[in-house]
Amino acid sequence: MDFKDVLYGRRAINFFDPGKPVSEALLDEIIGLAAQAPSGFNIQPWSLMVLRDQEEKLRLQKHAWNQFKISAAPVTLIVLADMDGWKTGNPFLEKNFQEMVRAGDMTADQRQWFDGARESLYGASESRKVAFACKNTGFFAMSLMLAAKSIGVDTHPMDGFDMDAVRKEFKIPDHYWIPMLIAVGYFDAAKSLSPAKWRKTVREIQVRFDT
Ligand SMILES: Cc1cc2nc3c(=O)[nH]c(=O)nc-3n(C[C@H](O)[C@H](O)[C@H](O)COP(=O)(O)O)c2cc1C
Repeated sequence: MDFKDVLYGRRAINFFDPGKPVSEALLDEIIGLAAQAPSGFNIQPWSLMVLRDQEEKLRLQKHAWNQFKISAAPVTLIVLADMDGWKTGNPFLEKNFQEMVRAGDMTADQRQWFDGARESLYGASESRKVAFACKNTGFFAMSLMLAAKSIGVDTHPMDGFDMDAVRKEFKIPDHYWIPMLIAVGYFDAAKSLSPAKWRKTVREIQVRFDT
């Protein structure tokens, strides 16, 4: 599929065909493609909880404005952003450092600099920790939705949910922010898709504050 068609064709679809499953292999392909997303220092602070079971999806739906698409879609993902992903001792952070040294992108004696850089960039305040986790995980989530579309699978991102209630329901540790849920499946052909939404123009997007 042409990339422009993917960009224009991806829509947040409200109606999923409950009779059309997304196989584990297909979901793995989508997640594998999304995993190519970039992240600061390649820390990749994202994780997914994959819900397929109807009872589990309904447990999520009740904390998410009762949005019906959560249980209608064959798969709904709880997207997790690790606010501690940058910290020394985090297993993926340590793996990442070893990989950077192995690849020659960093030397072992740069470790102190690396620790200080992450602390000042990502650990300086609570808002920095949330920003670190969510900006990187946002790239992953966007990649996932575009990857899905590129192979004919539809999605719907949602932040209309009670994060504390979802955290409690699924015993999600406090160091994860939950930036969004993503329903994954196929558009219900019996329904009609709403017209494409408006977008800011290229001119409206560009700003300056210093003139
Ligand atoms: C982070 C995020 C959260 C969203 N949350 C919801 C939601 O809870 N419920 C909903 O119906 N739509 C939600 N949307 C869908 C947006 O309304 C939709 O993406 C936007 O109107 C543009 O439409 P399009 O995606 O079809 O182009 C969300 C989208 C994003 C990116």
